[in-house]
Amino acid sequence: MGLVSTSLLLESCGSSLPLVKTNPENKALSVPLNKFSINNNLVIVRSGSLENDILLIKNQNEYKALYLRCTHEGVGLTATDKKIFCSAHGSVFDFQGNVVKEPALKPLQQFQTEVSNENVIIHLI
Ligand code: FES
Repeated sequence: MGLVSTSLLLESCGSSLPLVKTNPENKALSVPLNKFSINNNLVIVRSGSLENDILLIKNQNEYKALYLRCTHEGVGLTATDKKIFCSAHGSVFDFQGNVVKEPALKPLQQFQTEVSNENVIIHLI
C-alpha cells in the first residue's frame, strides 16, 4: 500500500522529472527529502496555490527553488535534467535560474528554502 501511495505522488509531468504535489501550510510548501536520491537531484513541485510549478534543485546539502515562470512573458517553463526552457519563444535558463538564451532578460524568481525535520521547506513569501 505504501508503494502505491508513493507512486501516486511521483507522477510523470512530461519532463520525466519526479513530480511532488503538495499544498501550502503557513505560506510554505513541504517536500520530503527522500524524494531526492543519488541519481536524482531535481524535483518538480506543484501546488494549487501557484499558477506555475517550482523546480527544486538539490546541490549537496543546499536546495534551490526556482519558479518555472518565464521572465519574458510569463509562460510556464519546462524543466528537464539538462535545462529549463520556454516553448513560447525559446528562452533557456540554467539551474541557477540565469538566462542562457534570450529573449528573456531577467533570471527566474527564487524562493527561500530551509531543511526541517526531513523536509525541504519552500517559503512562498
Ligand atoms: S514567454 Fe518565454 S520566451 Fe517568451
